[in-house]
Amino acid sequence: MQSTSAEQLQIILDIATEAALAAGAVLRDCWGKIESVEEKGRPGDLVTEVDKKSEAVILKILTRHFPDHPILAEESGRIGGDREQYLWAIDPLDGTTNYAHGYPASSVSIGLLIDNIPHIGVVYDPVRDRLYQAAKGLGATCNRRPIKVSSTTDLRHSLLVTGFAYDRHETTDNNYAEFCYLTHLTQGVRRGGSAALDLALVAGGHLDGYWERGLKPWDIVAGIVLVEEAGGRVTAYDESPFDLQSGRILATNSQIHSALSRSLLATPPISVWSNLAEMQKLT
Ligand code: IPD
Ligand code: CA
Ligand code: CA
Repeated sequence: MQSTSAEQLQIILDIATEAALAAGAVLRDCWGKIESVEEKGRPGDLVTEVDKKSEAVILKILTRHFPDHPILAEESGRIGGDREQYLWAIDPLDGTTNYAHGYPASSVSIGLLIDNIPHIGVVYDPVRDRLYQAAKGLGATCNRRPIKVSSTTDLRHSLLVTGFAYDRHETTDNNYAEFCYLTHLTQGVRRGGSAALDLALVAGGHLDGYWERGLKPWDIVAGIVLVEEAGGRVTAYDESPFDLQSGRILATNSQIHSALSRSLLATPPISVWSNLAEMQKLT
């Protein structure tokens, strides 16, 4: 299969950036003015008119430039052309719950897979005006300045982030136990509410690691490129190669990767936290 040159990647990155900034302008204009919030089926899985407006803006720009590229967009599903080497993964508003409540942590996420490998990532936080960009082999930036992952070497000194998928009410494999255990072992675990932004903050060195289950490609493709290009590592929970279809991701500054993997796999049952003696054995 023909490979994509650095020059071509830069051109694609510029177009993805144009789309992310245009969608971000929609999110900024509508900030605090949401008129309707609907649930998409599961409790807490929200969609607003802003998600749809933002997605329309992105699709218009991408399909104009790349009419033959397939696109997987959260609100429209799979659309676009049949050039199967490419697949865009788009979340027009990642962090809808935050956005709908006026909590300032959401983003536009635009990623591109080439031959199933994440190659382009743009994550834009419109409220704080932070533009994260990366392309495979070309590095990662925030507001056009190079970024790199943190240098924290051990879990005890780390600050992590995670999230909880919308099926959390339907399964006990809902990340609650892992959240408790990692909170116990580290300086803290944040629940950011925008997976794309969580990954961007790992890339920028503000957080040392991120894990989550139940994710969709549009949540993470862009952020994966950011973390890898900023010097971090992305795998499955058990450090095996990352599998987009699994919905599970472990992304870190690389230095705490193995320790975080081991802890995730050794997470004790949630009942431990109601027994002080048992709990204290885990420090
Ligand atoms: C959600 C956010 C959240 C994550 C959920 C996602 P949405 O996306 O990324 O951080 O924990 O799993 O579904 O619904 O706001 O686009
Ligand atoms: Ca999302
Ligand atoms: Ca979304």
